[in-house]
Amino acid sequence: MTEYTTFEHDVLVIGAGGAGLRAAIEASAAGASVGLVCKSLLGKAHTVMAEGGMAAALANVDDRDNWKVHFSDTMRGGQYINNWRMAELHAREAPDRVRELEAWGAVFDRTKDGKILQRNFGGHRYPRLAHVGDRTGLELIRTLQDHGIHQGIEVYMEVTVVSLLKDGDRVVGAFAYEREHGRFRVFKAKAVILATGGVGRAFKITSNSWEGTGDGHTLAYDAGAELIDMEFVQFHPTGMVWPPSVRGILVTEGVRGEGGILTNSEGKRFMFDDIPDNYKDQTADSPEEGWRYVTGDKNARRPPELLTRDHVARAIVREVKAGRGSPHGGVYLDIAWIKENLSNAPEHIKKKLPSMYHQFKQLADLDITTTPMEIGPTTHYIMGGVRVDSDTQASTLPGLFAAGECAAGINGANRLGGNSLSDLLVFGKRAGEFAAAYANENPQGNIDDGQIEQTARQALKPFERAGGENPFAIQYALQDMMQDLVGIVRTEEEMQRALVGITTLRERTKNVSVTGNIDFNPGWHTALDLNNLLTVSEAITRAAIERKESRGGQYRDDYPAKGEEFGKINYTLKKSADGKMQIESVPIPDMPEELQAIIEEMG
Ligand code: FUM
Repeated sequence: MTEYTTFEHDVLVIGAGGAGLRAAIEASAAGASVGLVCKSLLGKAHTVMAEGGMAAALANVDDRDNWKVHFSDTMRGGQYINNWRMAELHAREAPDRVRELEAWGAVFDRTKDGKILQRNFGGHRYPRLAHVGDRTGLELIRTLQDHGIHQGIEVYMEVTVVSLLKDGDRVVGAFAYEREHGRFRVFKAKAVILATGGVGRAFKITSNSWEGTGDGHTLAYDAGAELIDMEFVQFHPTGMVWPPSVRGILVTEGVRGEGGILTNSEGKRFMFDDIPDNYKDQTADSPEEGWRYVTGDKNARRPPELLTRDHVARAIVREVKAGRGSPHGGVYLDIAWIKENLSNAPEHIKKKLPSMYHQFKQLADLDITTTPMEIGPTTHYIMGGVRVDSDTQASTLPGLFAAGECAAGINGANRLGGNSLSDLLVFGKRAGEFAAAYANENPQGNIDDGQIEQTARQALKPFERAGGENPFAIQYALQDMMQDLVGIVRTEEEMQRALVGITTLRERTKNVSVTGNIDFNPGWHTALDLNNLLTVSEAITRAAIERKESRGGQYRDDYPAKGEEFGKINYTLKKSADGKMQIESVPIPDMPEELQAIIEEMG
C-alpha cells in the first residue's frame, strides 16, 4: 500500500502565480478554508515575467480611454475569436482590480499629479499599462502574497500535482508529491482551481522557467475537461539571443513602450515595411509620417514596433531569414537612441527599465543606455487552455475551475501585452468567488483508494526500469522538434511530421527510467512532467493543423490569409474513451448587439 498524507480543504488552488493567489484570497475572504499548492517556492511564478505592466482603462494618462476602447482593442488583438463576454468583463473590471491592488499596498510609478502612471504597449490604443518600472509582475505577486498570507491560506510549497481525483464526473481533490523528499500527498477539496500558468517549456526557446510544463492543461484534459484555442501560442518578439545560456529570457515590451526601436543589420527600421494598409494614413507624404496605428484616430499614433506581438515576431523572423539579422540570429532593439531627444537619457532608461539595464549588464556585459540589444522571438504565453464559463471560470467538469494562463477564452488568437496581469486579477477573483460558492453548496466527495494506488504505482514506475530512456533526452528532443516544426511559421507537412514525432516520443516515454531514490530527484521530476509536455504539444499541433489559415499567434506559410469560416469557430480538444485526443470545431456564439456596436464605433 502506498503511504501518503491527506490534507483537506474547501477549496484547493493549484498554482501560486497571480491568478492562483488572487483566487485563494477571494475564496478565503468568502469563508472557505483554502489550500494553495505551488510547484516552486511561493513568489517564483511566470507572472513576474509580465514586466511592463497591467492593462486597465484607468484613463490616467489619456482621458479618452475607457472600458469600451479596451474591450475593442482586446477583440481586435484576438482577431475576433475571443470569448467576447470574458473580454467585456475583463475590460470593465480591470480598473477596479488595479485600484484594489494599490489599496493592498502595490507600488506604482506616478504621473506628475500623483495618479498611477500608464505606458504604451502593443495593440493598446492609449497608454494603458499601469506599471512600476519593468518589475510590475513582481510587485503584483509581492502584494498578493503579503495580502494572502494574512488571510490564513495554507501554502504547500514545492509540491507537484500529478493527477486530479474524481468522484464520478466531479473533481474532488488532487494527488501530488512533495519535491524535496518525494513523499505523496492527497488533497481532498470540495472545489479545485487550476492556475498553473503556461506551456513554454514544450519549446526550446522560451521565457518560461522550468515550471511552465502545461500541468494544469494536462490535469484538466486527463480528467475529461475540454481545452480550446491550443493552436495559439504567443512568441514574444523580444527575448535575449546572446549569450546562448540566456537565450529566450524576456526583454520587456516596455522597452518599446518607452521608445525602443527595432533595426536590422542594415540599420533599417524594418517595422515600417509592415504596417497594415488599414492602419496607414493614406493622405500623408511618407510612411514614417503617414501611418496611424488606430484607424480613424490621428492623435493615437504609435510607433510600428508597437503593432501586436504576432505581427512583430513574424517581421523579425523575416529579417533574419532574409540575411539581415544580427550576428547571433536576432535583430537590434535600440533604446539608447532616445538620447537624441533627451539630455538625461541614461538616467531615464535606468529609471524606467532598471531590470533590463541590470539583465543586459550582468548577463551579456552590454550597456543598454549606449548600445542596441540583440533580440529575437521567445515562446512566452499560450492563448489556449481550459474551456471555462466566462462569468464563473467553471470548467466543463463539476468542481473544477481554472484561471489565468491555463484558462482560455479572453485572448482569442493573440493576447495583447499587459492583458495577462489584469486577466489574472479579474478572473482569479471570479474563480475564487465561484469556487467558494460551489464548495459551500457541496459536501466533500469520496476518494477511492484504488485511484490513489494506481496513480502512485504509475508515478514510481521509472524507478523500476533499469537502463531505459533518459527523461532529459526525451524532453530535449520534444523541445527541439516543437521549436522547428510547430513554431512561429507553420506548414502542414512539418506539423504532420511533428505529430509522428510526438507519438514516437510518447512510446519512448513508456520506457523511461531514473536512478537514485525519491529524495530530490530532478530526473524523476522530469519523467513525471513528460506526459504534460507531450499532451500540450499534441494539442497545439493537432489544433494548428486543423486551422487552415493564419490568424493571430498562428501563422501558416501554406495558408497565409485569414479564412472567413475560421473566424466563427474555436477548436476544442477532449480525451475520448479510448484515450485518444479528439478535436472538433465549435461555433462562437453571436456577440450581443451592444458589444458589436462598440466594435463598430471604435473602427
Ligand atoms: O513584455 C512584457 O513585459 C510582458 C508583458 C506581458 O506578457 O503581459
